[in-house]
Amino acid sequence: MIPIKIKKNSGEALYVQIRDAIEKAIKNDELKAGEQLPAVTTLASDIGVTHSTIRRAFEDLSAQGLIGSHVGRGTFVLDRNKQASKEVSPAPVKNTVSDYRSNGESSTATRRLRMGISKSLEALMELAKRPGLIHFTSGMPDPALIENGVLERITKDAFKTSEGQYYTYGESPLGLKALREELAKRFNSDGMDITAANILITNGSQQAASILAQSALENRQRIICETPCWLGIPRAFGAIGHWVETVTRDKGGVIIEKLERFNDNHPALLYLCPEFHHPMGTDLSPDRQTQLINWANEQRVDLLADQIFHDLRFEGPSRKSILTEAGKKSCFIMGSLSKSFMVGLRIGWLIGDEERIKALCAFKRSIDLGSPPLMQGIALALLKSGEYDAHLKKARKHYKVRRDTMIESLEKNMPEGVTWTRPNGGFHMWVELPRGYSSIALFLHAIERGVAFSPGPMQDPDHRFINAFRLSYSSVTPDQVKKGIKALGEAVKELLKGTPSEPGLSGLGDFI
Ligand SMILES: Cc1ncc(COP(=O)(O)O)c(C=O)c1O
Repeated sequence: MIPIKIKKNSGEALYVQIRDAIEKAIKNDELKAGEQLPAVTTLASDIGVTHSTIRRAFEDLSAQGLIGSHVGRGTFVLDRNKQASKEVSPAPVKNTVSDYRSNGESSTATRRLRMGISKSLEALMELAKRPGLIHFTSGMPDPALIENGVLERITKDAFKTSEGQYYTYGESPLGLKALREELAKRFNSDGMDITAANILITNGSQQAASILAQSALENRQRIICETPCWLGIPRAFGAIGHWVETVTRDKGGVIIEKLERFNDNHPALLYLCPEFHHPMGTDLSPDRQTQLINWANEQRVDLLADQIFHDLRFEGPSRKSILTEAGKKSCFIMGSLSKSFMVGLRIGWLIGDEERIKALCAFKRSIDLGSPPLMQGIALALLKSGEYDAHLKKARKHYKVRRDTMIESLEKNMPEGVTWTRPNGGFHMWVELPRGYSSIALFLHAIERGVAFSPGPMQDPDHRFINAFRLSYSSVTPDQVKKGIKALGEAVKELLKGTPSEPGLSGLGDFI
């Protein structure tokens, strides 16, 4: 391998310097076709950069057709003559995402565009830090629901069971067996068929997504993310070096026809939130679920279903997890206690096929050697003591009152043409303005009236859904909901006085 020299303070991204150095070496024949490149970990430590920097450089080189990876064998310089002869042969008449991805330059440009818009939106959201606002932006559980003394009680319970295990890394890197057994029992009572061996305990469900992101990179799986979505997940994938593709969803779930552009049999992982969707609040419909599973099986796509709101159904019949229909081989479930009890415990899980969970556990071990045994002991005591079920009973009623108050207030205050979803559980609902009106302009009107919410483009890696926005009701009191929605109604009426127009890239339209 040629020596690669980088300048850390040159202002040019490190992965670009590395990518360009390798590209130059390939084009000058210093690196020959068939030559194996060092492993990501070796190259990262030789050059003194992170693994994701090397992976990103490799991804661009691979998109340009200069290198290729084979699972289990490594990364090799490709034969450019063969590549060139491939290029002159008639291209298949398909407009798939892989065709687009092969153009390295435009993929770099789109990556930058996405990041730039994302940063601008974050700057806009700084306005929501003004003191005294009513916040419909936060998807946190209400801490007032946790009774005084519960944490002390369950912590004491946790020590009663066994103290010794908290001094070590824990009995298994998969997590405390008793906790996994308790979770399996609960999921099985909802229709799953799993054992403790199908569960990996993680630090929040966010870590479950991160672990799958690493494995997807290693296995050259493309990442597809339904959108709108909670941006934390595509960001977790992006941070590890994936270019996240998106497929749009409507109130019934992923739009099946939109999946066609991925019909090139390239292995992939598709993230979706089938229950009480964040941010739409609606469920994946049973028909779409079946169609999605059939498509995923045909196209070698694994599903990652986010069930973080599973225990927070306050209305309607309970539904079986997507895993029961899709099967464990190609479907993973991520979840946690963060929404249904407390974010601070950082206890989450990843559920899937036993062998695959074992393999994924190796990624987790490389990050943290296992989730904290003490926190797992506390989570176990919470579930076993009956405190969790008592909490859920209260929480479901509590959030239903807030949802009802929000819907009543919307009905009372919103002008004609504005629509919203009616979630049967979870924390969020999705509001749509008539076409041609921008939620970003509305955000600015609303802030002046003392209310904040999350504009649609903040819920999409590609920043669309300009006329929609997310309202979260979990951490606002019914009185705040009434007051806030009244003010928001006034802001909407002000916005709708203007004529509908194309809002442009800034999303401001005629606002200024
Ligand atoms: C839909 C969704 N999934 C996953 C997460 C990750 O949460 P945690 O890591 O606390 O489980 C969040 C956090 O807000 C979320 O909203």
